[in-house]
This record gives sequence, C-alpha cells and structure tokens, in this order.
Amino acid sequence: MKVAIIGAGYVGLTTGACLADLGHQVHVHDVDGQRISRLCQGDLPIYEPGLRELVNRTRARGSLSFAGDLTLALADRDLVFLCVGTPSLAGGSVDLSQVQAAARSIAPELGADTVVVIKSTVEAGTARAIATLIAKVRGGRPIAVASNPEFLREGSAISDFLTADRIVVGVDTKWAAARLATLYAPLVQRGIAYVETSTVDAELTKCAANAFLALKIGFINEVADLCEAAGGDVLSVARAVGLDRRIGSECLRPGPGFGGSCFPKDIRSFAASGRRLGAPQGLIETLIDRNEHRKRQLAQRVLDHLGGDVARKTVAVLGLAFKADTDDMREAAALTLIPLLQAAGVKVKAHDPQAMERARGLLPDVIWCSSPYDAAEGADATVLLTEWAVYRELDLSRLARRMRGKGLLDFRNLVDPVAADRSGLTYVGLGRPGFSSHAAWRGERGGQAARQSLAASPV
Ligand code: UDX
Ligand code: UDX
Repeated sequence: MKVAIIGAGYVGLTTGACLADLGHQVHVHDVDGQRISRLCQGDLPIYEPGLRELVNRTRARGSLSFAGDLTLALADRDLVFLCVGTPSLAGGSVDLSQVQAAARSIAPELGADTVVVIKSTVEAGTARAIATLIAKVRGGRPIAVASNPEFLREGSAISDFLTADRIVVGVDTKWAAARLATLYAPLVQRGIAYVETSTVDAELTKCAANAFLALKIGFINEVADLCEAAGGDVLSVARAVGLDRRIGSECLRPGPGFGGSCFPKDIRSFAASGRRLGAPQGLIETLIDRNEHRKRQLAQRVLDHLGGDVARKTVAVLGLAFKADTDDMREAAALTLIPLLQAAGVKVKAHDPQAMERARGLLPDVIWCSSPYDAAEGADATVLLTEWAVYRELDLSRLARRMRGKGLLDFRNLVDPVAADRSGLTYVGLGRPGFSSHAAWRGERGGQAARQSLAASPV
C-alpha cells in the first residue's frame, strides 16, 4: 500500500521503516526541513538499535523515502499516519497543537478515500475531533480518521513493531477498517493478534495500557522500600510475584522512577481526562506524585550516604538517559537527581554511552567524562542510574581504585553485590537488605528497622 508518515521522530521513523520492510511504499515527511535533509544524507536524529540498518535497507530497495515537500509526500497515498509530538499542557492534558497543525496542513491535499491514522498518543475522542477539523478545512468533504496507537519501547522499537503482542486499530467506518486490515495483513499472517475497535476504545486502550504498566513500576518501587524495611530482597519477591500469570513479570524492576517520552505524560493525560470527564483516576493521580517523590527520595539517599559536609563531596553518575539503549533524556531521573545533588553543593561527574550530547544542554555544571572510570576518579560515591549493559560489566576493582570513597549506589540493581563487596565497594541497591552483612546496610534505616522488628519478634 502507499503510505505517508507525518513526523520523523522515533515513532514516525520506526513506523515508516517497519511498514517499508513489510513491503509497503512509504514517504516520510517532517515540517523540519533540516531533519529531512539530514535523513536524506543517512543521518538519523535519534539513536535506536537496528533503525539505521533498516532505514538504509528499505531506502536502497526503494520502499522508503524522505520528502520535504508535503504535496509530494501525500500524492496518491492510501493511508497517512500522524506521528507528531503530543506533549503535556500545564494541567496534564495533551497538547494537541501539533496534531491539529498537521491535520490542517494535510487536509487540502488528501484524496477523497485516503485514511488518516493517528499514531501519536492522544486523549479519548481526538480522532473524531480531528475528523471534524479536517472536514471543515476541506469545505465539508469528510475523511476517515482512524486511531492506531503505538506500543513501541525505545531501545526495542523495531521488534515491538514487527513482533508486537497485538495491533490495536480503532475505526469508525467499515472501508477504513478494511484498508488497515490490508496494511497489517503481513503481521497478522505471522500470528500477531489484531484488535479492531472504535476510535475511542483504541485511544482509551493506549492510555489505560501505559497507566497500568506505570502503576506496576510505581508499585514495585514501593515494595522495594518495604523490602528494605523488612529485610527482604525485592528481586526475589518480584520474581515470585511475577510468575503469577495474572500479574506477569514485566515492569517489576525497581528503579529511580520512570521517565521517557510516554509514561509520565501519558499518566498525566489519563488523570486529566478523568478529571475532565468526571471519572477521577485516583490511583493514577497518586502515582504521578509518588513517581516524582521517588526521584527526590533517591537524591536524598545519595546525600544521606555521603553524610557530613556534602559540599566537599563528588559524585559520579553513570547513566543519564531515561533507560538503556536510547539517547532520550525526556523526563529522565538524572534531570531531577543531579540538580538536587548540585543544589546541596555536591560536584557531579557523569558518563553515558549515548546520551551525553543531549544531556549537556539540559544539565549545567556537570563534568562530562569519556568513560565510567574517568567519572569515578576521585568520587566519594558512584550512582548507577541507567541500566546500560556496559555498566553491568564494569571492572569493579578498577572502579574502586579510581574512587576516593567506596559507595556504589546501584539504583537499577545492576551489579552483583557480592562482587562489589569483594572489590572493596560499599554496595547499596534498591530493596535488597538481604545483603545486610555488607557494611552499607549496617547503618541504614531499613536494616535497622529490620533488626528492631526481629529483636521484638517472639521467636
Ligand atoms: C510522538 C508523540 O509525542 C507521542 O505521544 C506518541 O505516542 C509517539 O509520537 P515522538 O516520535 O518521540 O513521539 O515525537 P517527536 O520526537 O516529538 O517527533 C515528532 C516529529 O513531528 C518532529 O520531528 C516534528 O518536527 C514533526 N512534526 C510536528 C511535523 O512533521 N509536523 C507537524 O505539524 C508537527
Ligand atoms: C513506553 C511503553 O512501554 C511503550 O509501550 C510505548 O507506549 C512508549 O512508552 P518507553 O518509554 O520507551 O516505552 O520505555 P519502557 O521500557 O516502557 O520504560 C519506561 C520507563 O520505566 C523507563 O524510565 C524505565 O527505566 C522504567 N522502568 C521500566 C522501570 O523502572 N522498571 C521496569 O520494570 C520497567
């Protein structure tokens, strides 16, 4: 089929390259002419594993192209995907201005039977509102608008597209449904579940799915705190809990609070929709607060660990991106944690395998280092903030030798505590006071609470 993609961000590029890989003819357009020029030269604006290779392959085959000219991009298309940004407004609801701008700009150019597909995450009712807007711009001539939410995790976006758990397509007309079914037939033939719903249901599915996943993460973060207080190990608890098929093992890794371009803004918009429609989402309202609290709580944990006059202390932060395998800094925990440490007077050195270029503009006064060991040089504590594979394989003895202090605060539970201990490091994980023989736990609040409750126990 002939497809146009509006918006060459990570979702637009991934969707375009994957659809081209399935055999469709895809034009990708972006209002940012520079972005298109760079793409034409093979220069991708984002880091996503495998995307460069897929783009090169599909371009070489002639099934993917980048078009700066909108008319050219839209000519003769069966489907036009809107993959533009949908950031949060101040009250949490979705800023639809880019979706509206894109809809207005494409409206006059659309063929009578082109289907417009909204892939950006939006609130319930948006597809219908955009259909009305497009019809108005076209002097009353209607256009079918569908909703086809993305479930693409950065870092594994291509496999999330090509081997998705399910494809959700929201359509309000039969012929638009048939067109989307043809588009996705190659994936459905591979056994991927295909869910056809109304546009409102598809929009709600996306928001509810992300809200639920975010709740699981918020939940396990608090279970980790409870494990610390009770003397348990959250890794063992999460594994056992997740083996219940009704729960599942994904999104049960404790961390420094979730970030990224989706979870934080999607839960804000979910809560805002609930308020707007008179169906309050109390659990999600609480989650929004607790996730921000989590980031601040861990900054405080670093300061407590440093103790004394923190203004003389240096901390090495390893990992800045909101998660591994991306250079995306949107709502990353580093953006809260590092400024809080700096505000307390701590000197911060940092390293990230991919995100330093983006982070430079967002985090002033950080000393940027070319390796984790350079970052650790002279540090009183090292904080592991992103779960990059290279940090899992750190030479801990080398790290310890470069540091002034010995604290390794592992906010992703990435490193083996026993290996850290053997290397002379003082290990602090999340929810793992099972390692209370380690010096790190002796003075910690959690370890103490556990000891007190054990002392008070009748056995
Ligand atoms: C976006 C949405 O923000 C998110 O809600 C959704 O779930 C996935 O798509 P992302 O791909 O990361 O996420 O967006 P972003 O990196 O902001 O890229 C959007 C692109 O659209 C930009 O390159 C921008 O220049 C372009 N754009 C914006 C247009 O081409 N036309 C417009 O009218 C507006
Ligand atoms: C998310 C959705 O998962 C995806 O379906 C799509 O809607 C886009 O948004 P993404 O933001 O790329 O994907 O990353 P994801 O892997 O879901 O992680 C989001 C955040 O949660 C990250 O900060 C990550 O570190 C954190 N996380 C994830 C945890 O802290 N623990 C976990 O167990 C999983």
